Amino acid sequence: MSAFFENNRNKLGARMEIGDLAVLFAGKAPKSTADAHYSFMSNKNFFYFTGLTREHFIWTIIKTEKGLESTLFIEKPDYDIEKWIGRKMTKEVAKEKSGIDDIQYIESFHTFMNKLVQSGSVKCLCLDLERLDWDEKDSVADEFAFDFKKRYPHVSIKTLHQIEVDLRMFKDDYEVENIKKAVDLTHKGLEAILDVLKPGMFEYQLEATFSHAIRMNGADGNSFPTIAASGKDAVILHYVENDKVLNDGDLVLLDLGAQFNEYAADITRTFPVNGKFSDRQKTIYNIVLKAQEAVIEAIKPGTPFEDLNKICKNTLTEELISIGLISSESELSKYYYHGVSHHLGLDVHDLGLRETQLKPGMVITVEPGLYIEEENIGIRIEEDVLVTENGNEVLSKDIPKTVEAIEAIMKR
Ligand code: GLY
Ligand code: MN
Ligand code: MN
Repeated sequence: MSAFFENNRNKLGARMEIGDLAVLFAGKAPKSTADAHYSFMSNKNFFYFTGLTREHFIWTIIKTEKGLESTLFIEKPDYDIEKWIGRKMTKEVAKEKSGIDDIQYIESFHTFMNKLVQSGSVKCLCLDLERLDWDEKDSVADEFAFDFKKRYPHVSIKTLHQIEVDLRMFKDDYEVENIKKAVDLTHKGLEAILDVLKPGMFEYQLEATFSHAIRMNGADGNSFPTIAASGKDAVILHYVENDKVLNDGDLVLLDLGAQFNEYAADITRTFPVNGKFSDRQKTIYNIVLKAQEAVIEAIKPGTPFEDLNKICKNTLTEELISIGLISSESELSKYYYHGVSHHLGLDVHDLGLRETQLKPGMVITVEPGLYIEEENIGIRIEEDVLVTENGNEVLSKDIPKTVEAIEAIMKR
């Protein structure tokens, strides 16, 4: 499988200039409490170019007149430490998984860097420097940039972010297969929930049922913390307390996903806790479904990404006016207050432009919703969709979502 990662390295190399030296860090897990760390999540760009997800690893690639040279720095085996914290990856395994021939130990990284800069072949240091907020904690790459600039002030620094966006926005067949697998696992998890769902259970029991089912079927784990929001809390987009009892007559909104081979699924279904939608819940549910169908219909090469939001809002507005809940478009934001799509891939909210037209190979979510707090109703339905040459493929189409299909399953 290293061919995929090698191809990604070559695509990056094609965008680099002579004298560019890119350095990517796998990262490290933050400390959680006295003797423990949060579970480690590799920097996704590091994975995209190396196929590896090991803490502390560093990968460099330089473009010279002679071509591209890749070097991977891994942790040195230390059998005393391994008895406490687990086995280290060997050079042989790292080479086989990544396809990178030159593998060194991290201890030699600073000497390597110094020699390279002193040789005069480095004109620009390229780092993964995405910063979502001013106050965001410095990443390993940020810290390295400060440190490097202090030592080598004559070498300029630039970010790889835009190149990473351009590359990761388009999924190849290997990536689509992994996303499909993540979606299938999510389907299994939702089936397990439908098997047990009934009034009197707690939201966290649905969360636990899902996590158990996806892990039992081979998922890496959850792609993000499960939202199991019933009743009025379903209007809270990122509700994660999941601590309430499920009441007869309420709906429960489940926004969840499995991760497989580092790739994410992101699915939402909304179920009636007692197995049957009330007439009002059904009316609102079918409006959300109609908006989703209208958006999916529009997904094909050439459609501006931003049109998806317009189509969603137009459909919701028309339908809510027709049932008398609102009287003009300006009132829609009371009941619908998020975007309808984002890119999906290694990250749940994956790298990718939104100011662009849809093109084959993009994978996006379609997730309209309506949130009517005064009626205890929060409904979102989320599908994962691949843009194809001729239109689209709904990767999650097998997960039941019509009122009839959900009620039929819950009657069993
Ligand atoms: N699960 C997060 C989202 O739907 O965007
Ligand atoms: Mn979601
Ligand atoms: Mn989503």
